[in-house]
Amino acid sequence: MIIAIDGPAGAGKSTIARRIAQHFGIAHLDTGSLYRAVALRALALGDAADSTIAVRAAHELDLSLLEDPRLRDDDVTAASSLVAAIPAVRQALLGFQRDFAHRPGGAVLDGRDIGTVVCPDADAKLFLTATPEARASRRSRELQGDAGGAIYQHVLADMKARDARDSVRQAAPLVAAADAIVIDTSTLDADAAFAAALAAIAGRIAVTKR
Ligand code: CDP
Repeated sequence: MIIAIDGPAGAGKSTIARRIAQHFGIAHLDTGSLYRAVALRALALGDAADSTIAVRAAHELDLSLLEDPRLRDDDVTAASSLVAAIPAVRQALLGFQRDFAHRPGGAVLDGRDIGTVVCPDADAKLFLTATPEARASRRSRELQGDAGGAIYQHVLADMKARDARDSVRQAAPLVAAADAIVIDTSTLDADAAFAAALAAIAGRIAVTKR
């Protein structure tokens, strides 16, 4: 069973994907961390906006970087959506993601293009959204334990810039697959969002098994 979960930054994808994977006892891959790892390596090599450097970083991807705490740093976050716009970077990461998805037992992958490009054959596809304000207050709470602090404006501006870049790029833009179930998590807490996601997946799997 392959479950694809896509959506913009801070919509709750990774938290829900982790819980869904636990629920079904299958593996989980946060594909954003791959782009973050490429960005981290590209920054170490020089300029992440330089496509030669970014592509080299993608080909040399070191999976141990996926656990690196620097992946969530501001400069790496911003650079991740720059390297993600380069088609050869996306191509270099495709095989790993598809192999992960097709492992025996199945997997949950979350990202921007799982339902559209990486796993168009997924058994269930979710597209999680929320207003930019709800997403920014969630993310700033994660970062500093409070939603209204100074960091909020900064997070909101960063998310809007990344959403815009992720949506307009030519290569695998952020868009819901035609057969994705869209869930707006703006007014849902983590438990309610998980319940909505689980119900949507159960419904989709029941239909495909019929
Ligand atoms: O955690 P957050 O939602 O803020 O971001 P992320 O999922 O870690 O993704 C970081 C960046 O990687 C995004 O802004 C996208 O530019 C890129 N990305 C992508 O292009 N395709 C994916 N499947 C996953 C992430």
